[in-house]
Amino acid sequence: MALPRYIRENVSLAPFTSFGIGGQARWLAEPANRDDVLEAVGFAREWGVQVYVLGGGSNLLVADDGVDGMVVHLAPSGDFGRIEAGGDRLSWSVGAAAPLAAFVRETIGAGVRGIESLAGIPGTVGGAVTMNSGAACGGIGRFVVAAEIVRFDGTTETRGRDDLGFDYRTSAIEEMLALRFDFRFTDRDDPFVLRDSVRRHRERKRASQPLTIPSAGCVFKNPAGDSAGSLLDEAGCKGMRENDAVVSRVHANFVVNQANATAADVFRLVVRMREMVWRRSGIVLEPEIRLWGFREDFQHFPV
Ligand code: EPU
Repeated sequence: MALPRYIRENVSLAPFTSFGIGGQARWLAEPANRDDVLEAVGFAREWGVQVYVLGGGSNLLVADDGVDGMVVHLAPSGDFGRIEAGGDRLSWSVGAAAPLAAFVRETIGAGVRGIESLAGIPGTVGGAVTMNSGAACGGIGRFVVAAEIVRFDGTTETRGRDDLGFDYRTSAIEEMLALRFDFRFTDRDDPFVLRDSVRRHRERKRASQPLTIPSAGCVFKNPAGDSAGSLLDEAGCKGMRENDAVVSRVHANFVVNQANATAADVFRLVVRMREMVWRRSGIVLEPEIRLWGFREDFQHFPV
Protein backbone atom coordinates (compact mmCIF):
# COMPACT_ATOMS: atom_id res chain seq x y z
CA MET A 1 0.00 0.00 0.00
CA ALA A 2 1.32 3.45 -0.87
CA LEU A 3 1.79 5.62 2.19
CA PRO A 4 0.39 9.16 2.25
CA ARG A 5 3.06 11.78 1.51
CA TYR A 6 3.28 12.95 5.10
CA ILE A 7 4.39 9.50 6.35
CA ARG A 8 7.95 8.25 5.79
CA GLU A 9 9.48 4.91 6.72
CA ASN A 10 12.74 4.30 8.61
CA VAL A 11 13.69 7.88 9.42
CA SER A 12 16.53 8.71 11.80
CA LEU A 13 15.28 10.55 14.87
CA ALA A 14 18.71 11.88 15.88
CA PRO A 15 18.27 15.21 14.02
CA PHE A 16 14.91 15.67 15.78
CA THR A 17 16.48 15.58 19.25
CA SER A 18 18.57 18.15 21.13
CA PHE A 19 20.97 15.35 22.16
CA GLY A 20 21.51 14.58 18.44
CA ILE A 21 21.25 10.90 19.38
CA GLY A 22 18.91 8.07 18.44
CA GLY A 23 17.96 5.40 15.93
CA GLN A 24 15.18 5.34 13.38
CA ALA A 25 11.43 5.63 13.64
CA ARG A 26 9.77 2.76 11.81
CA TRP A 27 7.27 5.38 10.63
CA LEU A 28 7.47 9.13 10.96
CA ALA A 29 4.24 11.03 10.30
CA GLU A 30 4.36 14.81 9.89
CA PRO A 31 0.71 15.75 9.47
CA ALA A 32 -0.23 19.36 8.80
CA ASN A 33 -3.94 19.08 9.58
CA ARG A 34 -6.34 17.30 11.89
CA ASP A 35 -7.60 14.78 9.31
CA ASP A 36 -4.05 13.58 8.63
CA VAL A 37 -3.40 13.22 12.36
CA LEU A 38 -6.50 11.06 12.70
CA GLU A 39 -5.44 9.02 9.67
CA ALA A 40 -1.91 8.45 11.09
CA VAL A 41 -3.31 7.36 14.46
CA GLY A 42 -5.72 5.10 12.55
CA PHE A 43 -2.82 3.46 10.68
CA ALA A 44 -0.99 2.85 13.96
CA ARG A 45 -4.07 1.15 15.36
CA GLU A 46 -4.57 -0.93 12.22
CA TRP A 47 -0.91 -2.00 12.19
CA GLY A 48 -0.89 -2.66 15.93
CA VAL A 49 2.01 -0.31 16.67
CA GLN A 50 2.52 2.26 19.41
CA VAL A 51 2.10 5.99 18.76
CA TYR A 52 4.90 8.27 19.97
CA VAL A 53 4.33 12.02 20.01
CA LEU A 54 7.42 14.06 19.16
CA GLY A 55 7.58 17.74 20.10
CA GLY A 56 10.85 19.66 19.93
CA GLY A 57 12.84 16.60 21.05
CA SER A 58 14.56 18.62 23.75
CA ASN A 59 13.72 16.35 26.67
CA LEU A 60 14.10 13.04 24.93
CA LEU A 61 16.50 10.09 24.66
CA VAL A 62 15.80 7.76 21.73
CA ALA A 63 17.39 4.29 21.87
CA ASP A 64 20.11 3.46 19.35
CA ASP A 65 17.82 0.81 17.82
CA GLY A 66 15.10 3.40 17.34
CA VAL A 67 11.39 2.86 17.86
CA ASP A 68 9.21 0.30 16.18
CA GLY A 69 6.13 2.48 15.99
CA MET A 70 4.43 5.53 14.55
CA VAL A 71 6.16 8.75 15.58
CA VAL A 72 3.85 11.72 15.07
CA HIS A 73 5.58 15.07 14.62
CA LEU A 74 3.01 17.80 13.95
CA ALA A 75 4.13 19.98 11.04
CA PRO A 76 4.66 23.56 12.26
CA SER A 77 3.81 24.96 8.84
CA GLY A 78 0.01 24.66 9.01
CA ASP A 79 -2.64 25.04 11.71
CA PHE A 80 -0.43 23.46 14.34
CA GLY A 81 2.14 26.25 14.20
CA ARG A 82 -0.35 29.08 14.63
CA ILE A 83 -0.27 31.56 17.53
CA GLU A 84 -3.38 33.75 17.74
CA ALA A 85 -4.26 36.36 20.33
CA GLY A 86 -7.86 37.18 21.27
CA GLY A 87 -9.15 40.75 21.25
CA ASP A 88 -8.05 41.47 24.83
CA ARG A 89 -4.66 39.81 24.18
CA LEU A 90 -5.01 37.87 27.44
CA SER A 91 -6.59 34.88 25.67
CA TRP A 92 -4.52 32.96 23.14
CA SER A 93 -5.10 30.00 20.84
CA VAL A 94 -1.83 28.22 20.10
CA GLY A 95 -1.02 25.17 17.95
CA ALA A 96 0.99 22.41 19.62
CA ALA A 97 3.80 22.65 17.04
CA ALA A 98 4.41 26.37 17.59
CA PRO A 99 7.87 27.05 19.00
CA LEU A 100 7.68 27.91 22.70
CA ALA A 101 10.16 30.75 22.14
CA ALA A 102 7.84 32.39 19.60
CA PHE A 103 4.85 32.18 21.93
CA VAL A 104 6.86 33.66 24.81
CA ARG A 105 8.07 36.47 22.54
CA GLU A 106 4.55 37.27 21.33
CA THR A 107 3.02 37.40 24.81
CA ILE A 108 5.81 39.72 25.94
CA GLY A 109 5.32 41.93 22.90
CA ALA A 110 1.60 42.10 23.77
CA GLY A 111 2.45 43.22 27.31
CA VAL A 112 1.20 40.03 28.94
CA ARG A 113 2.87 38.68 32.07
CA GLY A 114 3.05 34.96 32.83
CA ILE A 115 5.45 32.90 30.80
CA GLU A 116 8.40 35.28 30.41
CA SER A 117 10.52 33.01 32.63
CA LEU A 118 10.19 30.28 29.98
CA ALA A 119 12.30 32.32 27.56
CA GLY A 120 15.31 30.27 26.59
CA ILE A 121 13.59 26.90 27.09
CA PRO A 122 13.75 25.06 23.77
CA GLY A 123 10.96 22.97 22.26
CA THR A 124 7.37 23.35 21.17
CA VAL A 125 4.33 24.65 23.01
CA GLY A 126 2.88 21.11 22.82
CA GLY A 127 5.95 19.61 24.46
CA ALA A 128 6.15 22.33 27.10
CA VAL A 129 2.48 21.95 28.07
CA THR A 130 2.63 18.14 28.03
CA MET A 131 5.66 18.22 30.37
CA ASN A 132 4.24 21.20 32.28
CA SER A 133 7.59 22.93 31.77
CA GLY A 134 8.37 25.57 34.25
CA ALA A 135 10.89 27.82 35.77
CA ALA A 136 9.98 30.75 38.00
CA CYS A 137 6.36 30.72 36.74
CA GLY A 138 5.77 27.31 38.30
CA GLY A 139 4.55 25.44 35.21
CA ILE A 140 2.98 26.56 31.96
CA GLY A 141 -0.08 24.36 32.64
CA ARG A 142 -1.55 26.91 35.03
CA PHE A 143 -2.23 29.20 32.06
CA VAL A 144 -3.91 26.53 29.92
CA VAL A 145 -7.70 26.59 30.00
CA ALA A 146 -8.40 23.90 27.40
CA ALA A 147 -6.69 21.52 25.01
CA GLU A 148 -7.90 19.93 21.78
CA ILE A 149 -6.95 16.28 22.15
CA VAL A 150 -6.72 13.20 19.93
CA ARG A 151 -6.68 9.93 21.86
CA PHE A 152 -4.78 6.98 20.45
CA ASP A 153 -8.08 5.12 19.93
CA GLY A 154 -8.92 7.78 17.33
CA THR A 155 -11.46 9.74 19.37
CA THR A 156 -11.17 13.48 19.85
CA GLU A 157 -12.26 15.89 22.55
CA THR A 158 -11.66 19.31 24.04
CA ARG A 159 -10.56 19.01 27.66
CA GLY A 160 -10.56 21.70 30.31
CA ARG A 161 -7.57 22.27 32.56
CA ASP A 162 -9.02 20.26 35.47
CA ASP A 163 -9.05 17.16 33.27
CA LEU A 164 -5.48 17.61 32.02
CA GLY A 165 -3.80 16.39 35.22
CA PHE A 166 -1.01 18.97 35.44
CA ASP A 167 1.67 18.14 37.98
CA TYR A 168 5.40 18.77 38.41
CA ARG A 169 6.91 18.08 34.96
CA THR A 170 4.03 15.91 33.78
CA SER A 171 0.36 15.90 32.72
CA ALA A 172 -2.31 13.53 31.45
CA ILE A 173 -1.46 14.68 27.90
CA GLU A 174 1.49 12.26 27.97
CA GLU A 175 -1.02 9.51 27.09
CA MET A 176 -2.60 11.48 24.24
CA LEU A 177 -1.85 13.84 21.41
CA ALA A 178 -2.66 17.51 21.80
CA LEU A 179 -3.27 19.62 18.69
CA ARG A 180 -4.01 23.04 20.12
CA PHE A 181 -4.39 24.89 23.39
CA ASP A 182 -6.39 27.82 24.75
CA PHE A 183 -4.40 29.94 27.18
CA ARG A 184 -5.67 32.61 29.52
CA PHE A 185 -3.43 35.10 31.29
CA THR A 186 -4.53 37.63 33.91
CA ASP A 187 -1.70 40.14 34.30
CA ARG A 188 -0.31 42.84 32.07
CA ASP A 189 3.01 44.58 32.24
CA ASP A 190 5.18 46.88 30.19
CA PRO A 191 7.03 44.91 27.47
CA PHE A 192 10.24 46.70 28.50
CA VAL A 193 9.87 45.43 32.06
CA LEU A 194 9.10 41.91 30.79
CA ARG A 195 12.10 41.95 28.44
CA ASP A 196 14.30 42.98 31.30
CA SER A 197 13.02 40.04 33.33
CA VAL A 198 13.77 37.74 30.35
CA ARG A 199 17.30 39.08 30.22
CA ARG A 200 17.83 38.26 33.87
CA HIS A 201 16.42 34.72 33.46
CA ARG A 202 18.65 34.13 30.46
CA GLU A 203 21.74 35.39 32.25
CA ARG A 204 21.05 33.13 35.23
CA LYS A 205 20.58 30.18 32.88
CA ARG A 206 23.71 30.93 30.89
CA ALA A 207 25.75 31.13 34.08
CA SER A 208 24.41 27.91 35.60
CA GLN A 209 23.66 25.58 32.66
CA PRO A 210 25.75 24.18 29.79
CA LEU A 211 23.71 25.66 26.95
CA THR A 212 26.21 25.40 24.10
CA ILE A 213 26.71 21.62 24.08
CA PRO A 214 23.97 19.16 23.02
CA SER A 215 21.96 17.89 25.99
CA ALA A 216 18.35 17.26 26.97
CA GLY A 217 18.28 19.75 29.84
CA CYS A 218 17.88 18.41 33.35
CA VAL A 219 18.03 14.62 33.44
CA PHE A 220 16.25 14.15 36.78
CA LYS A 221 13.31 15.86 38.45
CA ASN A 222 13.97 17.69 41.68
CA PRO A 223 12.84 15.52 44.60
CA ALA A 224 10.36 17.27 46.92
CA GLY A 225 12.13 19.99 48.86
CA ASP A 226 15.53 19.18 47.38
CA SER A 227 17.62 19.80 44.29
CA ALA A 228 18.71 16.98 42.00
CA GLY A 229 21.59 19.15 40.73
CA SER A 230 23.08 19.70 44.17
CA LEU A 231 22.53 16.03 45.19
CA LEU A 232 24.35 14.88 42.06
CA ASP A 233 27.08 17.45 42.62
CA GLU A 234 27.59 16.42 46.26
CA ALA A 235 27.70 12.77 45.19
CA GLY A 236 30.67 13.63 42.95
CA CYS A 237 29.01 13.11 39.57
CA LYS A 238 30.46 16.10 37.70
CA GLY A 239 32.86 14.97 34.97
CA MET A 240 31.72 11.32 35.14
CA ARG A 241 31.54 9.84 31.66
CA GLU A 242 30.60 6.93 29.44
CA ASN A 243 32.52 7.50 26.22
CA ASP A 244 31.26 10.86 24.85
CA ALA A 245 28.37 11.14 27.31
CA VAL A 246 29.59 13.32 30.16
CA VAL A 247 28.05 14.78 33.32
CA SER A 248 28.47 18.53 32.84
CA ARG A 249 30.93 20.33 35.09
CA VAL A 250 28.66 23.40 34.91
CA HIS A 251 25.48 21.69 36.21
CA ALA A 252 25.51 18.13 37.56
CA ASN A 253 21.93 17.44 36.40
CA PHE A 254 22.93 17.83 32.73
CA VAL A 255 24.41 15.05 30.61
CA VAL A 256 26.09 16.47 27.53
CA ASN A 257 26.94 14.77 24.26
CA GLN A 258 30.53 15.84 23.68
CA ALA A 259 30.68 14.41 20.16
CA ASN A 260 29.54 10.88 19.36
CA ALA A 261 27.73 9.63 22.45
CA THR A 262 25.25 6.82 21.86
CA ALA A 263 21.93 6.41 23.63
CA ALA A 264 23.45 3.38 25.41
CA ASP A 265 26.26 5.61 26.72
CA VAL A 266 23.77 8.14 28.09
CA PHE A 267 21.60 5.42 29.59
CA ARG A 268 24.54 3.77 31.38
CA LEU A 269 25.73 7.13 32.69
CA VAL A 270 22.27 8.08 33.98
CA VAL A 271 21.98 4.75 35.81
CA ARG A 272 25.38 5.40 37.45
CA MET A 273 24.38 8.96 38.44
CA ARG A 274 21.24 7.69 40.08
CA GLU A 275 23.19 5.03 41.94
CA MET A 276 25.76 7.56 43.21
CA VAL A 277 23.03 9.75 44.71
CA TRP A 278 21.26 6.78 46.25
CA ARG A 279 24.46 5.56 47.88
CA ARG A 280 25.26 8.97 49.31
CA SER A 281 21.85 10.20 50.38
CA GLY A 282 19.37 7.31 50.11
CA ILE A 283 17.30 9.32 47.60
CA VAL A 284 16.16 7.62 44.39
CA LEU A 285 16.04 10.29 41.69
CA GLU A 286 13.25 10.13 39.15
CA PRO A 287 14.14 10.87 35.52
CA GLU A 288 12.71 13.94 33.87
CA ILE A 289 13.87 13.06 30.36
CA ARG A 290 11.65 10.73 28.39
CA LEU A 291 13.02 7.43 27.08
CA TRP A 292 11.86 5.91 23.82
CA GLY A 293 12.62 2.42 22.58
CA PHE A 294 14.49 1.10 25.62
CA ARG A 295 13.68 -2.33 26.92
CA GLU A 296 14.07 -1.14 30.50
CA ASP A 297 13.12 2.11 32.13
CA PHE A 298 15.46 3.64 34.73
CA GLN A 299 12.92 2.76 37.39
CA HIS A 300 13.44 -0.94 36.83
CA PHE A 301 17.15 -0.61 37.43
CA PRO A 302 18.23 -1.65 40.88
CA VAL A 303 20.13 1.04 42.74
N1 EPU B 1 23.47 23.15 42.24
C1 EPU B 1 24.69 22.64 42.67
N2 EPU B 1 25.45 21.98 41.76
C2 EPU B 1 25.07 21.79 40.48
C3 EPU B 1 23.84 22.31 40.05
C4 EPU B 1 23.04 22.99 40.96
O1 EPU B 1 25.05 22.76 43.82
O2 EPU B 1 25.82 21.17 39.73
C5 EPU B 1 22.63 23.87 43.22
C6 EPU B 1 22.52 25.35 42.84
O3 EPU B 1 23.58 26.10 43.36
C7 EPU B 1 21.20 25.72 43.49
C8 EPU B 1 20.37 24.43 43.43
O4 EPU B 1 21.30 23.39 43.17
O5 EPU B 1 21.37 26.03 44.85
C9 EPU B 1 19.32 24.48 42.32
O6 EPU B 1 19.96 24.65 41.05
P1 EPU B 1 19.40 25.59 39.88
O7 EPU B 1 19.07 26.93 40.43
O8 EPU B 1 20.31 25.45 38.75
O9 EPU B 1 18.00 25.00 39.54
P2 EPU B 1 17.56 23.50 39.30
O10 EPU B 1 16.60 23.14 40.38
O11 EPU B 1 18.74 22.60 39.13
C10 EPU B 1 15.43 24.00 37.87
C11 EPU B 1 14.87 23.23 36.71
C12 EPU B 1 15.52 23.68 35.41
C13 EPU B 1 15.32 25.18 35.23
C14 EPU B 1 15.95 25.88 36.44
C15 EPU B 1 15.82 27.38 36.41
C16 EPU B 1 14.24 20.93 37.38
C17 EPU B 1 14.69 19.52 37.47
N3 EPU B 1 15.13 21.80 36.90
O12 EPU B 1 16.80 23.62 37.93
O13 EPU B 1 14.87 23.01 34.36
O14 EPU B 1 15.95 25.63 34.06
O15 EPU B 1 15.30 25.39 37.66
O16 EPU B 1 14.50 27.75 36.54
O17 EPU B 1 13.10 21.24 37.72
C18 EPU B 1 14.87 21.20 32.83
O18 EPU B 1 13.76 20.94 33.28
O19 EPU B 1 15.38 20.57 31.88
C19 EPU B 1 15.61 22.29 33.44
C20 EPU B 1 16.86 22.57 33.10
